[in-house]
Amino acid sequence: MGSHYPGEVNLADSAFLRACRRQPVPHTPVWYMRQAGRALPEYHKVREGVPMLTACATPELIVEITMQPVRRYGVDAAIFFSDIVVPLKAIGVDLDIKPGVGPVVADPIRDAKGIDALRPLEPGDVPYVTEAIKALTGELGGTPLIGFAGAPFTLGSYLIEGGPSKNHDRTKAMMYGEPELWHRLMERLSGIVIEHLRIQIAAGASAVQLFDSWVGAVAPDDYREFILPHTRRIFDSVADVPRIHFGVGTGELLGVLGEAGADVVGVDWRVPLDEAARRVGPGKALQGNLDPAILLAPWEVVERKAREVLRRGESAEGHVFNLGHGVLPSTNPDQLKRLTEFVHQL
Ligand code: CP3
Repeated sequence: MGSHYPGEVNLADSAFLRACRRQPVPHTPVWYMRQAGRALPEYHKVREGVPMLTACATPELIVEITMQPVRRYGVDAAIFFSDIVVPLKAIGVDLDIKPGVGPVVADPIRDAKGIDALRPLEPGDVPYVTEAIKALTGELGGTPLIGFAGAPFTLGSYLIEGGPSKNHDRTKAMMYGEPELWHRLMERLSGIVIEHLRIQIAAGASAVQLFDSWVGAVAPDDYREFILPHTRRIFDSVADVPRIHFGVGTGELLGVLGEAGADVVGVDWRVPLDEAARRVGPGKALQGNLDPAILLAPWEVVERKAREVLRRGESAEGHVFNLGHGVLPSTNPDQLKRLTEFVHQL
């Protein structure tokens, strides 16, 4: 392995990366989706008067906000502070993130002209990402940094609908009604996603997570036809680090998600991990899956439910403890700190 600098920590031996690779771990590693953000008073303090997308383009803020949950909770991994729409903004898509709403796109994409206007992403489009990750890898020491991107379906839904959507009507209308156009859009977005993940890996991210948050709206056969070729290409293109694949409401999709090629499949709270392990099949680690709302209940309930998640997680070849979706803004940070300590002890 060559010589080690004084103080250099071997990241590869971290519990998080070992669990992703289905290797034995000293304790179950734990981190939380949306651990950086609205549940933390120190987050609100540094974000005061700073729009979300401005924060995402400011290296000092990215570094500080990424570090906040690591300091406070002692989690086993940091997730890069950003948003899934940042690379789209960076190639010139006119969009904003509205507080309490989410991403809003000024001119929704509905035709070939709109799709062809999505140009490829280049490292020079997101210099703040590279700069922040380089600074973070120094600050984090032995704690791995997770880079991430939105998956083509979830990004496509925001672009086509123009904002958050309950039923993804227009998105599905294009998928079923104009399959050529659909695949063209998915291909464009996949190229952007691959480049964005590669930029983060090149700068020092030790793992990547693909967020397909809204893909649970799609039936398994349709996933196979309209989405799988694209997610497969993405995972094939970033095979040099552990890859996590996550979506919400994906109980019926867990098998086909396993086929997309990630090392770790994220599971929401609806399917217990032992059942999820059966559905995903061998050769995968699992991530999840405490219902984030359980953290709003008294500690005794959290402890009982977390114990259950850990017990069922033993059925998986590797288990990264997480919530079934993001931390809710009203969560008491003390509950998350206590939960982290509990998972480490057990
Ligand atoms: O801690 C982390 O997970 C890192 C940061 C992160 C954010 N967004 C910060 C953020 C990550 C990984 C994301 C991913 C993301 N963004 C997803 C996938 C994950 C998921 O939760 O399903 C999605 C669907 C988005 C799109 C998006 N951006 C939504 C739905 C929202 C919430 C809107 C709201 O205010 O309710 C955002 C905004 C956003 N992204 C915030 C944060 C901290 C809140 C904005 C703020 O604090 O002003």
